[in-house]
Amino acid sequence: MTGSARPHQYCPPFDQLDALERLRIRAVDPAGFTLALPAQVITQTRGLEITDPEGVPIAHFTPDRVDGTSATGTPEWLGNPSPRPYERLYLSPAQVRATTTDKTLTVVVDRRLTRKDVAEIRSGSTGRPVLLLVLSGPTMSPYSRGIDLIRRSLEVARGLDSAKVVAVPLDPRIAHADPALQDEVVSAYAPGPVAWLGPHPTSLSGTETMNRAGASGGLVLFFTGLSGSGKSTIARSVREAVLEEDGRPVSILDGDVVRRHLSAGLTFSPEDRETNIRRIGWVAAEIAYHGGLAICSPIAPYDSTRNAVRAMTADRGGDFVLVHVSTPVAECARRDRKGLYAKAQAGEIQDFTGVSAPYEAPTDADLDLDTSSMSVEEARDAVLEHLRERGHLRSAGELEWMI
Ligand code: ADX
Repeated sequence: MTGSARPHQYCPPFDQLDALERLRIRAVDPAGFTLALPAQVITQTRGLEITDPEGVPIAHFTPDRVDGTSATGTPEWLGNPSPRPYERLYLSPAQVRATTTDKTLTVVVDRRLTRKDVAEIRSGSTGRPVLLLVLSGPTMSPYSRGIDLIRRSLEVARGLDSAKVVAVPLDPRIAHADPALQDEVVSAYAPGPVAWLGPHPTSLSGTETMNRAGASGGLVLFFTGLSGSGKSTIARSVREAVLEEDGRPVSILDGDVVRRHLSAGLTFSPEDRETNIRRIGWVAAEIAYHGGLAICSPIAPYDSTRNAVRAMTADRGGDFVLVHVSTPVAECARRDRKGLYAKAQAGEIQDFTGVSAPYEAPTDADLDLDTSSMSVEEARDAVLEHLRERGHLRSAGELEWMI
């Protein structure tokens, strides 16, 4: 790096951004703060500028010590991160202590509050002010489940005589995994006695309930297979059936179409294919987050990239269905509707999937459809049946009473 170059910028994952935030507001002891840095960033640690997801510089970080991929040091604060939902509730422990007394009962909210919790808080706090301390991380994720915990806590607080809600940049899952950290943070805020919620009354904890695949009701239906295998034809046929039978809106992200718009300019190199699929996955997961149905039909030749899309979808509470359209390459080449196999075999197109570039057949597909031995209608019906089983389509019986 030259003297005039801007410092290397790095946006850490959400859990690390929360860790920095806890440090900044002095909710933890600043001694020996450690940040995990990816290997490619660790070499840049001279003058690393840490940013939030919107690119706003938060801190300058020069590690005193690097141990593997862990860098220990003291961040120099550059500014406040971009505001989050309920930003006004993110007080520092010092601000909380300035407005409470040791009579205040602190209730740690690490899952959705139930009616029973509220009754217990009310009876346990007679005559005392209540501080609902909401563990609301990952706070910089636009999909944070903490937003829901805060909203409910505010409703509960309105029903109590004297209660306030304070949001804490700590993910309940991280707090549960690291009780020492949880205790340190909670005691930094709590001016008096502390009450903890018991386990959630149902078998799933509040966090798990919201973390379950498909919690948003949205779905990413992802077709993978060779060029000419029938992905787009089946995808279109499924979309028409869903629109006709169910009426829920559907977005199609087809390989060829995406490459003319969202991914215009990308090549068929392994890196560009990865970028292409991640873009498709990002959009599809966003659609699923809003409860929609996204049908994707790119080749998506790599297992790791397909898994990344599965993870992105789960992160946003969507369900993910992988369909392998496994029509063999010989049949795809025989059909050769676009004339591309002939060109690839003649060496006129390089890196052509199935001819001169790899295709990793999935081992984790929910359905395997070979269109050399089944019609488009049969393939479509197999997909619709699977979606019905998973609760993504109304069943025929449900439709009858509507007609
Ligand atoms: S992917 O590998 O990045 O998933 P994508 O589905 O977007 O591929 O694009 C595949 C389509 O691009 C094919 O259906 C075909 O029409 C066209 N194509 C052009 N060149 C190639 C190539 N070298 N390999 C595969 N498909 C290609």
